[in-house]
Amino acid sequence: MADAADIILLGGDLCDTGLPEEAEILAKELTPLRIPVVAVLGNHDFEAGKAVEIIDILSNAGVNLLDGKSCEIYGIGFAGAKGFAGGFGERALQPWGESTIKAFVHEAVGEALKLESALAGLRTPKRVALLHYAPILDTVVGEPPEIFPFLGSSRLEDPLNRYPVTAVFHGHAHRGAPKGATKSGIPVYNVAKPDLQSTFPDRPPFRILDMESVDSEEPRI
Ligand SMILES: [Fe+2]
Repeated sequence: MADAADIILLGGDLCDTGLPEEAEILAKELTPLRIPVVAVLGNHDFEAGKAVEIIDILSNAGVNLLDGKSCEIYGIGFAGAKGFAGGFGERALQPWGESTIKAFVHEAVGEALKLESALAGLRTPKRVALLHYAPILDTVVGEPPEIFPFLGSSRLEDPLNRYPVTAVFHGHAHRGAPKGATKSGIPVYNVAKPDLQSTFPDRPPFRILDMESVDSEEPRI
């Protein structure tokens, strides 16, 4: 990736079981690259209850870890948040009934607000959003339908339609579709590694977005 691109984006699940030792391995790989890295955390990074340590380790390695924040690199704005689950469209989980259900929905709303405040902070004409969970249904299609609601939330799409970006990247949906679009036509790319491996078996599992081409109808990727 470092040879092929100017900036690396990592869409979460930076660790396997959320252990600081795993984050150290990634930090060791990234430190010598001398290329800007932008990342969000994923659900795996929370598994061991050590997300704060993981953030410390990767931030010290120079990674721009975005959790409701934005950053600007080479004139391009990046807004990022992990996101959360809850389902899509009219079938999305609503905050009704048990307090646990309300807390679940509250978490998704909170992540959408984080994304919104990150997007609102961007002042660059070229902007990219990075998530772990999917903001639209399109890119989870291909997974078993029973787990769609655990793969993302439409609540994450609303800020993307209000604060348009050039492209959105997310992970988490291992067997989803590689590409979709928000209601306002913003391209959304599922870059979960297993998904890239099955979509592009003959090339390394990452995508390259050519930001020079973003003024064209559809950016080259
Ligand atoms: Fe995940």
